[in-house]
Amino acid sequence: MAVLTQTEIAEKLRGEDLNHWLELWHAEQGPAKRSSLELMAAVVPASKEKDVRVLDICCGPGDAGRALGSRFPTASMDFVDRDPFFASLCAAVNQRDGFAGRTLVRDLSSPNWSQDLASSYDVVVAANGLHWFTIQEVTELFTEVIELLRSRGCFLFMEPTRPEFPFQSGFATWQHTQPGQHRHEDWIHFWSSVNAFLGYDHMPLDARPPEGRIGDTLSALDWVGLLKTAGFEAIDILLRDTEKVVVAGLKP
Ligand SMILES: C[S@@+](CC[C@H](N)C(=O)[O-])C[C@H]1O[C@@H](n2cnc3c(N)ncnc32)[C@H](O)[C@@H]1O
Repeated sequence: MAVLTQTEIAEKLRGEDLNHWLELWHAEQGPAKRSSLELMAAVVPASKEKDVRVLDICCGPGDAGRALGSRFPTASMDFVDRDPFFASLCAAVNQRDGFAGRTLVRDLSSPNWSQDLASSYDVVVAANGLHWFTIQEVTELFTEVIELLRSRGCFLFMEPTRPEFPFQSGFATWQHTQPGQHRHEDWIHFWSSVNAFLGYDHMPLDARPPEGRIGDTLSALDWVGLLKTAGFEAIDILLRDTEKVVVAGLKP
C-alpha cells in the first residue's frame, strides 16, 4: 500500500478516538513524564495571563507543548516533528482541545527547517526527542533554538541521561530497584497499532536506533555544557530522576 501523506493521515484520523492513541503513547512514555512536563510548564517565568509563544520541537503527539498550554490558556503554539503520523495526531488533538498554532512536518537536522517560524518565541520546549540526534546535530540545533527565542526567552528540555563514569555501575544497580519508565512491549504495542491503522509498516518493529545518536550517553552536566556552548545563561538542572534530566536555560 502507498505511504499516506500528512493530509491523508489527518483525514483518516477524523472520527478516531484520539484519547485511545494518546493513552497508547503515554503508556509507552512512562509514568514519570507527566509531572516532569508539569514542572517544565510551572517554571516558565511569565504570568499565566501572558500570550506566550511556544515552540515544541520533536513534538510527537504534542504533550510538551500542551502541558505549557494548560498553564498559559492564551498561548499560541507551533509544533514541529518529522513524523507525519505524530504531526497529524498532534494537530488533531490541538484542534479538538482548542489550542492555537501550527503543526509542521520538518526534519530538524535539515537546513532551513525553521525558515518560516517566528524568531520571537517565549519558550522552546523539547521532550524525549533530542537524544535522537548526534552531538554535532544537537550542537547546531541549540544554536538555531537560541536564534528562535526572544531575549529572556527560555529553552526547556527533558532527555535521557546517565551519571559520570565512576557512578554508573552503582547507579545502574540502584536503578534496577526502581520502577522502570519504559517497556519495550509498550513501544511495540504503540507502533504495531499505528502500522495496522495506516495499513503499512510506518515504523518497522525491528527498527534499530540510528548510528551515532546521543541516546543516554550524556550526563546532566554534558547537557548543561551544550546549552552553555550555544550561549544560554541561568542554566539549571531542574530535575533528575531515574532516567531523565530536565534542564532549562535563558537567552541573554
Ligand atoms: C520519543 S518521541 C517524543 C515525542 C514528544 N516530544 C513527546 O514528548 O511525546 C521522539 C520524537 O522526536 C522526533 N524526531 C526525532 N528526530 C527528529 C528530527 N530529526 N526532526 C524532527 N523530529 C524528530 C520523532 O519523530 C518523535 O516524534
